Amino acid sequence: MNSLFASLLQKIEKLLLSHSSKNETLAAICTLLKKQIPHYDWVGFYLVDEKTSRELVLGPFAGKPTEHTRIPFGKGICGQAAERKETFIVQDVAHETNYLSCSPDVKAEIVVPIFKAGAIAGELDIDSHRSSPFTETDREFLEKVCAMIAVIV
Ligand code: SME
Repeated sequence: MNSLFASLLQKIEKLLLSHSSKNETLAAICTLLKKQIPHYDWVGFYLVDEKTSRELVLGPFAGKPTEHTRIPFGKGICGQAAERKETFIVQDVAHETNYLSCSPDVKAEIVVPIFKAGAIAGELDIDSHRSSPFTETDREFLEKVCAMIAVIV
């Protein structure tokens, strides 16, 4: 883990310990990640709809608004990650047929599930305007972030 990611984990820990609401904390985490990591161009949370447990609902995000505010499990990269219950990295969205486009600028996407008591409670979704930008360090970092966030979702 590089020093930027290590210092961001400390900042996220502090945000999680603050007395802000869940949505304020998630929004602050989105803003922090988008601002500090050059290849993160859109950062947002999708939370599992508690009524159906089969749909993702858009939560706090940093970046341009998206039309994809509800995504069924299995649909798009977000829905596939929810169904598989694992991190899904697409380094070139042009080669992904099951994809929901938010912007023609997006070239790559990483989606990391958030687990609560073994069940998927939500996801952290990141779009990049760069090609093949995501490394194993991104995965390791974002999986740690999602493990930390599980306490508040
Ligand atoms: N591209 C996603 C949809 C969400 S947006 O990236 C914000 C997908 O294919 O699931």
